[in-house]
Amino acid sequence: MQRVLVTGGAGFVGSNIVRYLIHETPVHVTVLDALTYAGAWKTLEGLPASRLERVQGDIRDARIVDRLVARADAVIHCAAESHNDNSLRDPLSFISTNVMGTGVLLEACRTYDARFHHISTDEVFGDLPLEGEAAFTEATPYEPSSPYSATKAASDHLVRAWIRSFGLSATISNCSNNYGPWQHVEKFIPRQITNLVDGVRPRLYGDGLHVRDWIHARDHASAVWAIVEKGRIGETYLIGARGEMSNKEIAGLILAEFGRSPDDVEYVDDRPGHDRRYALDPSKIMAETGWAPETDMAAGMRETVQWYRDNEAWWRPAKAGVEKTYRAEGF
Ligand code: NAD
Ligand code: TYD
Repeated sequence: MQRVLVTGGAGFVGSNIVRYLIHETPVHVTVLDALTYAGAWKTLEGLPASRLERVQGDIRDARIVDRLVARADAVIHCAAESHNDNSLRDPLSFISTNVMGTGVLLEACRTYDARFHHISTDEVFGDLPLEGEAAFTEATPYEPSSPYSATKAASDHLVRAWIRSFGLSATISNCSNNYGPWQHVEKFIPRQITNLVDGVRPRLYGDGLHVRDWIHARDHASAVWAIVEKGRIGETYLIGARGEMSNKEIAGLILAEFGRSPDDVEYVDDRPGHDRRYALDPSKIMAETGWAPETDMAAGMRETVQWYRDNEAWWRPAKAGVEKTYRAEGF
């Protein structure tokens, strides 16, 4: 495999995958990204132009997608509208990009017989009760709660249909919540870190006891490449690092980096339809590909807090607008 097309490569997960491909593999990378509010070329700064081609364009534009897929050996599809809170404000844009955009890519991959890897989320499975040890597996039925997770579920189903009906060489991964550098300040962890830089207390939705299963974006990237190289065509793999923590616990870790009490938080309105707990079992990818996560959560969080302290120029332009929207809604 020589040429990989990464959609959404100027966003959070996509840029971490692009960095992984450039640093850890010999492939040439082309990024197709519409540069929405969530994407910027500065996120890919410092990577060698000889290994990386950057194309601004929309995954719903069949002409540009066709041109790029025609000369790719594989496509790693990350481009999406990605934020649950935004999907409650403007669900139709999620249907358009996440469903139609995935359809356009699948058709191009069918035409040019390209290998397709679909990046998806564990949120397609709905949520789990707080009590108990239950975890999602590849066999868990789909039960998405939000417009975001419903559109990701729809896109997963499209990929499965293209595999079965057209014999497309495709795989799917459903990953748990990512953290790390280059994540937009609208998301939970960067929002609280940058709030604290501004002297504002972390803001927890509802009772703050909702649980997410955290993985460093670098570990997500290495897992995706393990699937592209060693995964079985037609299969779905769950990616996670067994990193369950409540939002209150995460806030406590961040507060500790600022030398503040773990209780120095503010409870705000709850998100409508807020999923209670996510947890997933990554046994299948570990057994079949030998992949394992490498980042310890405490060390990864410390590094992430430091990254936001060191890279204020990257996130500062988006901060005031994000906070204004949240505050207007009681978040
Ligand atoms: P993000 O919002 O940071 O990045 C999305 C990128 O896609 C941006 O660069 C944006 O410009 C681009 N994009 C949006 N619409 C586009 C369009 N129509 N055409 C071309 N480019 C477009 O999101 P993220 O957190 O990096 O998520 C990327 C993927 O990873 C999504 O598919 C998401 O479902 C999946 N995922 C994310 C997480 C997480 O915790 N962030 C976890 C599991 C799965
Ligand atoms: P988020 O980063 O939006 O990811 P997702 O909705 O995909 O899990 O939110 C992570 C968790 O943090 C989720 O339970 C909602 C919660 N949250 C807050 O408590 N406060 C906030 O300011 C934000 C943005 C999220």
